[in-house]
Amino acid sequence: MEKNVDTMEKVVSLCKRRGFVFQGSDIYGGLKGTWDFGPLGVTLNNNIKREWWKMFVEGREDIYGIDAAILMNAKVWETSGHVAGFFDPLVEDVETGERFRADHLLKDLGINADGLSLTEIDNLIIEHKVLSPKGNKVSAARQFNMMFESRIGATAGDEGKVYLRPETAQGMFVNFKNVLDSMSPKMPFGLAQIGKAFRNEIAPREFVFRVREFEQMEIEYFVKEEQWREEFEKLRLAIQKWHDHIGLAPENIREYEVPDNDLAHYSKRTIDFEYNYPGKGFDELAGFAYRTNHDLKAHMNASGVSMEYIEPDGTRYVPHVLEPSFGVGRAFMAILCEAYTEDEMGGEVRTYLKLPKHLAPYKVAVSPLLKNKPALVEKARSVFSVLKETFGTVAWDDNGNVGKRYRRQDEIGTPHCVTIDFDTLGEEKPELKDTVTVRDRDTGQQTRVAIAELVSYLK
Ligand code: GLY
Repeated sequence: MEKNVDTMEKVVSLCKRRGFVFQGSDIYGGLKGTWDFGPLGVTLNNNIKREWWKMFVEGREDIYGIDAAILMNAKVWETSGHVAGFFDPLVEDVETGERFRADHLLKDLGINADGLSLTEIDNLIIEHKVLSPKGNKVSAARQFNMMFESRIGATAGDEGKVYLRPETAQGMFVNFKNVLDSMSPKMPFGLAQIGKAFRNEIAPREFVFRVREFEQMEIEYFVKEEQWREEFEKLRLAIQKWHDHIGLAPENIREYEVPDNDLAHYSKRTIDFEYNYPGKGFDELAGFAYRTNHDLKAHMNASGVSMEYIEPDGTRYVPHVLEPSFGVGRAFMAILCEAYTEDEMGGEVRTYLKLPKHLAPYKVAVSPLLKNKPALVEKARSVFSVLKETFGTVAWDDNGNVGKRYRRQDEIGTPHCVTIDFDTLGEEKPELKDTVTVRDRDTGQQTRVAIAELVSYLK
């Protein structure tokens, strides 16, 4: 099926209707840039994170997991360059005072302002007579630091200042020495972390795509300087393999070489992995940066703690780093957009999520054919218990008729539905006793399977 802006709207609506994503602080009218993941959303997110951890940490010998605190000493962010350089260009609506990202206003007019100075942005605003979304003039652009500030304990003044981390990466850099000392890794090796990060986006937008609180899955992979190109190519393949593993079609992924004038303050080369979001086009899914030894060297100078790696022959150096960085929310969106499918079944249009089985929130749904027949319900409960023990996420669905149950499960991507009917009880056809109907989400085909073989069949 062709996917377009309608598809995106349908995915967003499905997310809200079926318990994937709710507006943050919903009953109070929401809090801009925050979203809450509901029962199915948290399960999909956990599946994404678990698969990522399995692939990049448990599946390899050279990457170690860590989990650093969100609150870090403010010196971390002074040293990393985020206090001085983590800005977005902001303009104000001169009538209402509302604030907007200048580069986004220009992008909406088809003008790319990536990497431009404030003066260049101001010139473009004047040249193209850029107005706010309310149609009013906008102020000159100024820099806006995106880090959330807070205060720790009862300390007053700048001494107690802390920032909510805008990336998990620094938690890995500041633990580099701890890992060297405790794990004695051999080069090249990496650290991996999954966790929340916060950015005070001027204008959060596009559902969970640009938000103020989000989750990252990041790797800092340490290499000798002369190895960086070779290791970059290996990690690039690993990232491609990951996108394949989460079911994203290769034609929907584009690798964009970020031009030099738009590189982050720490990067010497970055590739953005972009996904072709329906109705939006290619936009960021993951980033892959060569950060040189900018961070380790800066932390070594600022803290006085050596960040050198010592080779067995005594050679010492501060390693360079390659950083694959993935947003959980962006993977979540891409996976749902890729999976969203409409086809025709039984003469009707049906909607289903063609999710890879390892990502589907429910692995299987179990139903008694009728909910008012105790013998059917009892048998179905016993099948449900066995499956739940094996698969964990199993849905119990006894509402409405079987056709409606199938449609409901299709819509949330459940790969199989198991129905317990009168044949399962073996009342009329003894040869079918203790067999159930297993229906396949993608084909709608139904197969009779013995309960004793159900677990291996579903696996
Ligand atoms: N660590 C890279 C990023 O957060 O964008």
